[in-house]
Amino acid sequence: MRLEDVDTPAVIIDLATVERNIARVQAHLAGLGLKVRPHIKTHRLVRMAHAQVDAGAVGICCQKLGEAEVMADAGITNILIPYNIIGAAKLERLAALAQKVSLSVSADSAAVVEGLSAACAHQVRPLPVLVECDTGAGRCGVQTPAAAADLALMIDAAPGLQFDGLMTYPPIGRAAEVGRWLADAKAGIERADLACPRISTGGTPNLGEIGQIGTATEHRPGTYIYNDRSLLAAGACEEADCALTVRATIVSRPTPDRAILDAGSKALTSDLLGLDGYGLIVSHPDARIVALSEEHGHVDLGQSGWQPEIGEQVVIIPNHACVVSNLFDRIYLRHPDGTIEPAPVDARGRST
Ligand SMILES: Cc1ncc(COP(=O)(O)O)c(C=O)c1O
Repeated sequence: MRLEDVDTPAVIIDLATVERNIARVQAHLAGLGLKVRPHIKTHRLVRMAHAQVDAGAVGICCQKLGEAEVMADAGITNILIPYNIIGAAKLERLAALAQKVSLSVSADSAAVVEGLSAACAHQVRPLPVLVECDTGAGRCGVQTPAAAADLALMIDAAPGLQFDGLMTYPPIGRAAEVGRWLADAKAGIERADLACPRISTGGTPNLGEIGQIGTATEHRPGTYIYNDRSLLAAGACEEADCALTVRATIVSRPTPDRAILDAGSKALTSDLLGLDGYGLIVSHPDARIVALSEEHGHVDLGQSGWQPEIGEQVVIIPNHACVVSNLFDRIYLRHPDGTIEPAPVDARGRST
């Protein structure tokens, strides 16, 4: 298949760029002495997970149990789910998954630990559990290093569980502070005669500063495999590093300064991530995608000399690649020789 044969809107993944992104970040983190555990929520593709492990990753990270089940069925053997797993239905699936692969999870409260323990108490192998720490990003996580030590002791004492270390999704630009937080927590845990073998950090925009954290043993980059407009805006990648693009067609020219694309919120996502507009039209960066309805992208040509014709196709770097991946049943892989291979998004919609 050739690019011209792909109907729009469509997600195109450039494999040469993917390969470069994987190799660059793997080498960067390995150079800092960190194990690499890519977050597969960005691609949800078995072949990409295998490529990341083949390049040297110790395993993968999945936000959702459903993603982890797909990856385990496809032969990935080491998986971290850095998420509070709660409720009988999920805990049953978690216990089953723990028998198939080397699985670890995180927890940030006694309630989560109790559920994990009840589900795993009769397992042959204890389930490794990391304490999730809120080191400043303000999402989940225990709030102080002392609370991290308390929860670590609780995990250590819980039947079916084994304390494995600390996990955080750190805020950007505060690596030294995050490092102090984690070092304090680790020291508190060790004072209680418990080892803290693993400290797991994550993120792509912070790859340049991650060495300053100091105490980390592994890092979970996700978006780096594709990159997107938010990372471009943050200066964390170049346009040539953006492996995922959305191809769209101009379907209407209602006024001289408006063009309408066949890609709306169901193709580009409504995520702004603090940016102006909903994506970068690569060939015409001054044509702004100012609004989206579900199936229409509204392009303002007011600051652009471009006068597209109906039927013209464009390539768009979306604001947030990870969400776009989950909007399509199938993506199109562009091989280095230009041929196009359609591929199903293996874990698409596996959001429980
Ligand atoms: C827990 C966790 N780890 C790692 C990542 C990867 O971050 P990024 O996509 O910035 O690489 C994320 C992203 O949402 C996350 O939530």
